[in-house]
Amino acid sequence: MTDWSVLLARKPVADIVAAADSPGRRVPRVLGPVSIAAMGVGAIIGAGIFVLTGTVAALNAGPAIVISFLLAAVACALVGLCYAELSSFLPVAGSTYTYTYATLGELAAWVIGWDLIMEYALGGAAVAVGWSGYLTSLLAMLGVALPPQLVAATGQMVVLADGTKAAAIANLPAAAIVLLLTVLLVGGTKESVRLNNIMVAVKLTVVVAFIGLGAFYVNSANWQPFVPANTGEYGSFGVSGILRGASIVFFAYIGFDAVSNCAQEAKRPQRDMPIGILGSLGVATVLYVLVAGVLTGLVPYAQLNVPDPVGKGVRTMGHEWFSVFIELGALIGLTTVILVLLYGQSRIFATMASDGLLPEVAGRLHPTLRTPWISQITVGIAVAAVAAVAPIDTLDELVGVGTLFAFILVCGAVIYLRLIDPHTHRPFRVPYVPWVPILGILACLGLMSGLAPSTWLRLVGWLAIGLVVYFAYSRYHSRLMNK
Ligand code: ALA
Repeated sequence: MTDWSVLLARKPVADIVAAADSPGRRVPRVLGPVSIAAMGVGAIIGAGIFVLTGTVAALNAGPAIVISFLLAAVACALVGLCYAELSSFLPVAGSTYTYTYATLGELAAWVIGWDLIMEYALGGAAVAVGWSGYLTSLLAMLGVALPPQLVAATGQMVVLADGTKAAAIANLPAAAIVLLLTVLLVGGTKESVRLNNIMVAVKLTVVVAFIGLGAFYVNSANWQPFVPANTGEYGSFGVSGILRGASIVFFAYIGFDAVSNCAQEAKRPQRDMPIGILGSLGVATVLYVLVAGVLTGLVPYAQLNVPDPVGKGVRTMGHEWFSVFIELGALIGLTTVILVLLYGQSRIFATMASDGLLPEVAGRLHPTLRTPWISQITVGIAVAAVAAVAPIDTLDELVGVGTLFAFILVCGAVIYLRLIDPHTHRPFRVPYVPWVPILGILACLGLMSGLAPSTWLRLVGWLAIGLVVYFAYSRYHSRLMNK
């Protein structure tokens, strides 16, 4: 095979499914539909709703943030349908990476695998930083002050107890939670999922309690004007503010796609993957719209630009105990997001290793625990290091652009696979192909256009580094190339 043909060589769908069931790679099928949907909700509801809602309401959309959430949900639903078709059709680990391998070929698959690091590993780091913020404020409420230099990104200026300023050393709680969850994940999928289910239940209780109790304290005058007039700057209120808001709150929906990483460990992927993906997305949408509506009804939107807006909303109700409950719930909620992202990243690396694009050890399963432990530990250490040194805002936008890029390829993969392989049975079918995937692509491009140009440049830079790695290592070790 010549070099050029291998770059475009596709991995046949039947081979992908058969290889995943080979004795060396078979993992126990332990997940049912409720666990899968809970995993989705676990990955979705996190820093987006607990942190970004306040910022976007205060700076971009006002009470119309509700519309921003609905717009982002429509984009995600279009993409979610495509994920549902592909993950029931190709029930193997590896997510978008695997779908791309089957459609656009090895080079594109590598690019997307590399790009997914932005979603999963950087996403895990971003949420760990948010986790650290909530831990700090919860402990402060309980009268325990953590040293400010040890809870912020390296070099960030912080105010010390005596009022002086100093540069932070590292965000230690952010790194610690990542390492702790890594240990849990190495210990076994079933155990991790069980704990995840409990934490997701707590998180849902907290969110529903906020909506239920908060609804009684809403002052409808705070919803006026519902769409504040544009200030003259694009994205600062008015219609453009709603659109810019949608690009930012998109982050809150990231995670429904992570459900596709469970496909290989699902008991009945054909039925359960679509339920898990679309179900978790639906639950998140309803909760987000309600939380955003209640929050902007509790607090005038201009006052919501704080690190813990939901906590601020609760404080206006005047119940101190409820604030502690909410902050604790947020902390637990963020924990599940990190857990699922770390899980997903290790499964993607393991799949890439089994194709020879990453060193073989990354795919090795632990002899008794049956988890890709080397990959999981490597991911854990790297994500902990990034979480310790990087600020959250830089991470957030990078996660958004990387994820949207992956979503576009997933929509494209549905159209392409229908064309080249129309007869294979699809347990779940996207309606109105190619129109629904095309609308999905346009919606993702629309959301991407709302992000800063520097973010686009960083995406290009990251992908360029990936190409260097591919041409220096992966293509010489590719299984497909050395067949
Ligand atoms: N959707 C996830 C969150 O909001 C990434 O934290």
